[in-house]
Amino acid sequence: MKELPKLELHLHLEGAAPPAFIRGLAAEKSVNLSGIFDARGAYAYRDFVDFLRVYEAACTVLQTPQDFYRLTRAVLEASSAEGVIYTEAFLSPDFCGGRDLDAWRDYLAAMTEAAADAEAADGIVMRGIVTCIRHFGPEAARETARCAAETAGAFITGFGIAGDEMKGAPKDFAYAFDMAREAELQLTAHAGEWGGARSVRDAVRDLGVTRIGHGVQAIEDPALLEELAEAGITLEVCPGSNVALGVYPNWRAHPIERLRKAGVPVTVSTDDPPFFHTTMSGEYENLAQSFGWELPDFAAITYAALDAAFCDTATREALR
Ligand code: HPA
Ligand code: ZN
Repeated sequence: MKELPKLELHLHLEGAAPPAFIRGLAAEKSVNLSGIFDARGAYAYRDFVDFLRVYEAACTVLQTPQDFYRLTRAVLEASSAEGVIYTEAFLSPDFCGGRDLDAWRDYLAAMTEAAADAEAADGIVMRGIVTCIRHFGPEAARETARCAAETAGAFITGFGIAGDEMKGAPKDFAYAFDMAREAELQLTAHAGEWGGARSVRDAVRDLGVTRIGHGVQAIEDPALLEELAEAGITLEVCPGSNVALGVYPNWRAHPIERLRKAGVPVTVSTDDPPFFHTTMSGEYENLAQSFGWELPDFAAITYAALDAAFCDTATREALR
């Protein structure tokens, strides 16, 4: 599976940091990270909210643009080894100098340089989606949207929202999304991972997104499925993440195949690979095993990702 060319549309940059990478930085900076690793050194969390705590604790060792240069290189090297030729990473000004615009520019310059170096070394193409964090609230989201709008361009092509879906409502973040839209950024929102079909409906209506992060709980609402199919709203489905976090009890129970059969554009991503003990080829292997997916099925999701990618036409055509 590794050799199949893949596109990934839903990858949190910090969430892709291997535990050993985070421990290495913690040692360099003398940061005490007790309580986030298990006895074998893997990330340890009890549930989704606890996952967010561990995630944010790990981020405390990412303190300089140089740390983000190293992180970006490490993540892209691992993705490239999985056959990924194009990746969209969620980037968080919250963890890059606390949403200060000047600091964000410095961090972003380091990530942009790392992406260019990775492309030169391995051919992998990366674009960034600036992401606000729902449980930090609408005011922080507006500051994040300002960072996104001021740096929109060839590399930063999208704006999104992650974090605790059960906190607040999509409409609370409409102003931030309006700012991003005015800066010609393309839009996605985490929804329907925890908040049901209603959460997906609200994100589409109130934020005007063209993609949904996860969105799997749309399966509960046939009328919504028709609307998503009709509007061509693409789901960034991360089955391994959903199984690891207990959204579904096992792979067979995951709705990805039913979503696809309902005509909804579906793509496959890893979300936060080391947290969920997954990789892109691991996702593919599980899809083959659980649903009998074969080469034409993988080709179909790859073309769906190409259609939904937040990049310019020339980049898209070069990948085709
Ligand atoms: N959901 C919400 N927020 C996140 C996730 C996720 O799967 N991963 C990192 N931040
Ligand atoms: Zn995510």
